[in-house]
Amino acid sequence: MLTAYDYLFAEAVDRAGADSILVGDSLGMVVQGNSSTLPVTIEEMAYHSRAVSRGASRALVIADLPFLSYQQSREQALLSAGELMKSGCAEAVKLEGGEEMAATVEFLVQRGIPVCGHLGLTPQSVHQFGGFKVQGREQARASQIRNDAIALQQAGACAVVLECIPEQLATALSSELEIPTIGIGAGANCDGQVLVLQDMLGLNDGRTPRFVRNFLPGANSIEEAISRYVAAVRDGSFPSADESYH
Ligand code: KIV
Repeated sequence: MLTAYDYLFAEAVDRAGADSILVGDSLGMVVQGNSSTLPVTIEEMAYHSRAVSRGASRALVIADLPFLSYQQSREQALLSAGELMKSGCAEAVKLEGGEEMAATVEFLVQRGIPVCGHLGLTPQSVHQFGGFKVQGREQARASQIRNDAIALQQAGACAVVLECIPEQLATALSSELEIPTIGIGAGANCDGQVLVLQDMLGLNDGRTPRFVRNFLPGANSIEEAISRYVAAVRDGSFPSADESYH
């Protein structure tokens, strides 16, 4: 999986062989220049998702439910997910949260909406965490993440993104869960990996997180860089131990 926010990059990711394209609310930072994902609206997500879906002929398009577009009630989540699928042409939605969101996930799934979960460093909670910090290093938090993952699976989630958690925890979750885990900063033993496209092309404005690899050097085109990422995920050479938390 890779993120994309527009038509041409979606085409490139699709052609390069990624299984899934995430229209992440990271667009609030990468496209809009905000310091967090919090300002992103449902209309903006639908707009980008629509453009991405036009470029994706093969890969599954998953769009993020942005901050406060689903937390208020199950009905609010249904309307927001519907907007992403009807207007944004997304094929699945992603939301952040675990046990507290399980009833909402079940409600959406029962109404025909595929839902991907997101645990660990959930960026919409950045202010609660006090920054973009690795999660699950302490036993109590690791147990909470495990309970959250099981609750999402029981609620019918089709996959779960694990962001910035120790490799050991992600490995244990990946073997315990039946649904696929998709890691970002969660080590090599997840079932899949995701990166922000601009990050893996070396385009960022400041500090590069440990889990990001720049695939552009040595590639003759952006598409070749993406193909190298896809190949490295498939053969297990990305991420390395140095690109993971322990
Ligand atoms: O918004 C996003 O791009 C994401 C990924 C970083 C997983 O949620």
